[in-house]
This record gives sequence, C-alpha cells and structure tokens, in this order.
Amino acid sequence: MADRDVRIYEVGPRDGLQNETAPISTDAKLRFIQLLADAGLREIEATSFVSPTAIPQLGDANELMARLERRPGVRYPVLVPNRRGLERAQAAGADALCVFTAASEPFTKANINMTIPESIDAAGPVVETAREHGWWTRGYVSTAFGCPYQGEVGEAAVVGVAQQLIELGVDELSIGDTIGVAGPADVRRVVGALTGAGIGTDRLAMHFHDTRGTALANVTAALDLGIRCFDASTGGTGGCPYAPGAAGNLATEDLVYLLDREGLSHGVDLDALLVAARHISETLGRALGTKVGQAGGWRVP
Ligand code: COA
Ligand code: ZN
Repeated sequence: MADRDVRIYEVGPRDGLQNETAPISTDAKLRFIQLLADAGLREIEATSFVSPTAIPQLGDANELMARLERRPGVRYPVLVPNRRGLERAQAAGADALCVFTAASEPFTKANINMTIPESIDAAGPVVETAREHGWWTRGYVSTAFGCPYQGEVGEAAVVGVAQQLIELGVDELSIGDTIGVAGPADVRRVVGALTGAGIGTDRLAMHFHDTRGTALANVTAALDLGIRCFDASTGGTGGCPYAPGAAGNLATEDLVYLLDREGLSHGVDLDALLVAARHISETLGRALGTKVGQAGGWRVP
C-alpha cells in the first residue's frame, strides 16, 4: 500500500447500529451493506456474534450473514467475543473476525463481563482458530483514551493490552476512543507509546468517535504519524450501550471529504456514499446529522 493510500474500515452496520433501540429489519441492514459496497468500501464490519441479550439489535446476525451477498474483493468482518460466537460465525461462513477488549477494567466488566486477562484468554482460541483457517483477524482495544467509569486511561494500559493481542497473532489492532474524549495530543501520546513499544503503524487502525467534535482533528494527527487505516460509520451513527455518553462514530462521509481534500486515495465515491447515508437515516427515521451529509461534497460552480 502506497503512503498516499488510506483504508476506510466501515463500522456502520455494527458499531453504528448496535445501540439503536428501535428494531431495524434485516432487509434494511442488508441494503445498507450493499449500498456501502456500491460506494467502494472494501471493508464493511457486518454484525456481531455476541449475546443477543447484550446487543438485541444484532440478534439477527445468523440470518444477516446467511443472506449477505458477498462481493469479491470485499471483506465483511464480524465481532466474536468467545467460543460460542466463533462457532456461530463459522457456521455463518464468516472469514474475517474481530476480538475485542479494552484498556480499562470497569468498561471491560460492563461490556463483556470479563476482566481484561479473561478477555485475552477468551480471544486466544478465537484468534488461533481463525489463523488455522487463514481468516483475517483484528483486535479492538476500546476505551484507549478514556473510560466512562474510570476516567483517564494511561497509555501504558493501552500498550499492555495491545501487545497481548499482537502476541495472539491478530493482523491488526483498532485503537478506540469509545467515548470520544481524545484530542490530537492524546493521539500523539497513545500512538507514540504503541510505536515506541514496537507495534508498527501498518498494524494500527484508529477508531474515533465524534462525541465532542474532535474526530477529524484526531484523524489528521494520526495521518501525520503514519496511520493509514480509519474506522468510520456512514451516517455518523454509533454508540455502545455499555459506554454511557458515547455518541456517533466519526462519519464516513466526513472522513472521505477530508481525505479527498488531502489528496489521499481511498476508493470511496462520496456521492454514492451519501446514498447509503440517506438510506440509513431514512431507516432510522432521523435526519442525517453529519456535516458532509448535510452540506454534500463541494461542487465548484
Ligand atoms: N452468542 C450468542 N449467545 C451467547 C454468546 C454468543 N457469542 N455468548 C454467550 N451467549 C449466551 C449464553 O448462551 C447465555 O444465554 P442464556 O442466558 O440464554 O443461557 C448468555 O448469553 C450469557 O452467557 P455467559 O457465558 O454467562 O456470558 P455473560 O453473561 O457473562 O456475557 C458476553 C458475556 C461476552 C457473552 C456478553 O457480555 C456479550 O455478548 N457482550 C457483548 C457486548 C458488545 O457487543 N458490546 C459492543 C461491542 S464493543
Ligand atoms: Zn466504537
């Protein structure tokens, strides 16, 4: 991948929708995923094989994956918390898996009812099986910049968890600002600690939430540090029921606009992406609230 190529990892169908309380039909989710692929996205996190009691909105994961028309060249990762999730994901034909933990104990407890060491133990066999099958794997490190229960999170905690996930053999880490509290200086501090510990930027993705309007500033800081993969959610939806105060993910349309202005390539067509954004906003019955969603791209008169 050339230095001017950026990967946009779409999390709208999973992180974006998981906290929505009104039921969303499997049809509407599948249509969303197809529109995202139409727009040129090549990595679309489709759903989670977690407990349907924990995340009711994604309780249709089996059906969704069974009906998903997979396009060649598109990766459809799914979240897997444990062996049970692995079995379900495998039966559904998934070939890209994400395991997840966090850099703070109270969030990990609230989110998956495990300590951080227990979450690493749970992730181990999932990653091992995935590697045996040649599947792509990603490890999420949530609350890397702040925790809704604990407050500040030190970079040493992020590095500790990140190293353990790397040792399990994940292909990539996604470093999450779950409650959207980071600013650029925090990005430099945390990414600096990770690279200082020997984890290359080629194995790092950044996952920003725009809760306080800092997501794009954080992307710019991360680009300067050499990060070339960003998570984003079309329509700017997102939140986690176990992270009170977490608002929308960085909107994919806002990210695409910024990358275009920076002259970086990413393969996503903004107009086509806005079709997907409007679809999800209509599905949710809410006006599209993202900046670029409202303004559109810039058409020079
Ligand atoms: N898929 C479906 N059901 C599952 C499951 C999975 N991967 N793992 C566990 N379950 C079911 C169990 O069968 C059990 O069902 P029952 O109550 O009908 O008997 C129930 O969930 C509880 O199982 P248990 O093993 O005791 O787990 P737990 O209550 O300690 O919960 C998790 C642990 C990880 C399963 C749960 O906290 C979870 O799914 N969290 C995901 C949260 C999330 O996705 N957050 C957003 C992403 S950051
Ligand atoms: Zn998130």
